[in-house]
Amino acid sequence: MTDLSTLEQEIFSGFANIKSKTELENFKIEILGKKGKLSKLFQDLATIEKDKKKEFASEINILKSKVLDKFQNLTNQFDQEELEKKLQDQTVDVTLPGTNRPQGKVHPVSQVIDELTSIFAELGFSVAEGPDVENEYNNFTALNTPPNHPARDMHDTFYLDESKNLLLRTHTSPVQIRTMLNGKPPFKIIAPGRTYRCDSDQTHTPMFHQLEGLYVDQNVTMADLRGCLDYFLKKFFEVDEIKMRFRPSHFPFTEPSAEVDIGYELKNGKITIGQGDKWLEILGCGMVHPNVLKNAKVDPSKYQGYAFGVGIDRLAMLKYGINDLRSFFESDVRWLEHFGFNANDVPSNYRGLSR
Ligand code: PHE
Repeated sequence: MTDLSTLEQEIFSGFANIKSKTELENFKIEILGKKGKLSKLFQDLATIEKDKKKEFASEINILKSKVLDKFQNLTNQFDQEELEKKLQDQTVDVTLPGTNRPQGKVHPVSQVIDELTSIFAELGFSVAEGPDVENEYNNFTALNTPPNHPARDMHDTFYLDESKNLLLRTHTSPVQIRTMLNGKPPFKIIAPGRTYRCDSDQTHTPMFHQLEGLYVDQNVTMADLRGCLDYFLKKFFEVDEIKMRFRPSHFPFTEPSAEVDIGYELKNGKITIGQGDKWLEILGCGMVHPNVLKNAKVDPSKYQGYAFGVGIDRLAMLKYGINDLRSFFESDVRWLEHFGFNANDVPSNYRGLSR
């Protein structure tokens, strides 16, 4: 007959060698499985004399429960160890330096719009908006553009319907009309936004950005226009002096009309704005044509004002040294990483516009 204390010793020294949960599972089968050492003892019971049976049975049961306890303890121990290892592997060290994740940047066009808004707010202009999809009336007719004016030509304008009533606005000037029809003078607004023309090369894209300016009141003169532009250009290019000249020009919606050039200089491939003997065309402007005021239900015998329109993309290219306009709209993150701005550096007249 099996000596129980020898078996107990054998089992417990077996326990001592177990190093993993799998080993423990296998050992359990070896001991308690159908053909296991302990299970065999229960089979032996049948062959034992009746009077010793009871005592032997209780001894094996005691051994069995000791062994089961040990299994349970070891299982708990292995589970605990596994949990601790997991916790250690997954520990986050919050003091480690962060990994370099790509960061979003503010597009130079958005940056320049913010800068312009900040500058013109200083002069009392508020921001107005109009839709990209305009009607022919606001984009041309109300702006005193004659029916046969070349700007209406199919080659320049994206018309959206057969009757040529809906179009993608070719400039931000229709916001002048919308603003005046929607309120009472005086008006002092800027309107930044997208504009569209059928054009594409290094300096033209079918979609581009303009900023419209409109100031209508009882005593607004061309001198006010000049003063306003001088202030804006100095602030924008962050220079103390800026050479500026008004060149007579023509727009159907202004009279007189002018194109404004600013002086610049090229030295070692670098452009300096404000000084020098070269001229750069920068914007169109003039005194709002009386017909435009009439069309917008403003009495031209009482009110007058100035308007101007400036290319935002062009301003961004000049200020930030970007030489291909098309690159603005290619959505290349490497380009944006290089030319973009930190989202937290909101332009302000006091803290500085661009850095
Ligand atoms: N709308 C004109 C353009 O797109 C610019 C302009 C605006 C000129 C306002 C005069 C007054 O070229």
